[in-house]
Amino acid sequence: MKRGPVQKWVAPGRVNIIGEHTDYNDGFVLPIALPLVVECFAVVNGSGQVRVGSRQRPREPVLVAVGALAAERDRVPAWSRYPLGVVSEFVRRGHRIAGVDIELDGAVPIGAGLSSSAALSCAVAVALRDLFAPMVVDRELIDIAHAAENDYAGAPTGLLDQSAAILCTAGHALFLDVRRCTDPDDDGAHEQIPFDLDRFGLELLVIDTGQAHELVDGGYAARRAQCDAAAAELGVPALRDVETVDALERIADPVLRRRARHVVTENSRVLTVAEKLRNGVDPRSIGPILNAGHASLRDDFEVSTPALDVAAAAAVEAGAHGARMVGGGFGGSVIALVDCERTAAVADAVRNRFARAGFADPRTFVVVPGAGAHRVD
Ligand code: GLA
Repeated sequence: MKRGPVQKWVAPGRVNIIGEHTDYNDGFVLPIALPLVVECFAVVNGSGQVRVGSRQRPREPVLVAVGALAAERDRVPAWSRYPLGVVSEFVRRGHRIAGVDIELDGAVPIGAGLSSSAALSCAVAVALRDLFAPMVVDRELIDIAHAAENDYAGAPTGLLDQSAAILCTAGHALFLDVRRCTDPDDDGAHEQIPFDLDRFGLELLVIDTGQAHELVDGGYAARRAQCDAAAAELGVPALRDVETVDALERIADPVLRRRARHVVTENSRVLTVAEKLRNGVDPRSIGPILNAGHASLRDDFEVSTPALDVAAAAAVEAGAHGARMVGGGFGGSVIALVDCERTAAVADAVRNRFARAGFADPRTFVVVPGAGAHRVD
């Protein structure tokens, strides 16, 4: 078979402005896509085989027959389960994949809570759609990437990261009602809300603590199970259905009650922040809500770490309007909302506090909302 040209697709990492651990509770999230992307170079090879390489793992290319993807799952290297899982999921859904060569190059820091794995799976997913299954709509593409991560890679994620990677647009935050977005007939489940900090003399600073988190570790799955148990005790389909914290008094176990309180209060924080941004108010007013979100993840949901707490506290002490950990927790990054002229001082303050606390030097960078996954012509 004559090979076509190698083409390139990209998909971004994300930071969530607010709405952590709400997605698998059918709740609300508000991410932006990062300008940092995973690149996927792909070409149909017609050989019935999938070849996957990664520039970050130059000595570990993987070759698997399309028909053997499911059976080989436990034998392939862990990193390759993300791209191979996407191919496997297309096959499982009845799409004919004639064989493909995939080369990956990731610029989203791994384990930083910035969703490098969804960037990877979504970059492969958009490539496969364009090459083999153009009828697949965005909603299904998100499900494919999500199933690949959950079922093939074994990372029990919600829908936040894949939705952000596919649906985000430059200059906007994505408001997503996760319950509504699982209904294929409901196209009002997401909304692009302008997020232009520059207009207000503000910047969003990311502080990567360098302490990597792993979703395939048990902490994330344990939190999910606790949320399910709390919802079951309250007799509701999901914690999304609980509107006030008073209703949580009926949960007997104090730990489950705190977990549920995080989800209920976080959902209401997302709605408040989304409403403020929609109305074009000064984003400085969301600062205290970011701080409250961090406290809730630290105290009620207990997924923060000493380094994340130090980063958030030092940023606020140095003048940030608000700061909070992002992503699943147990490591990763903090975001801080800062006046442009204070950005360097806030980053320095965090760096000094890290040095004094004996933590490794954090990586800091400013982000603006980037585009979702697409082919690069
Ligand atoms: C990880 C998961 C997401 C979401 C966040 C927490 O990033 O992949 O689905 O649950 O944690 O908000």
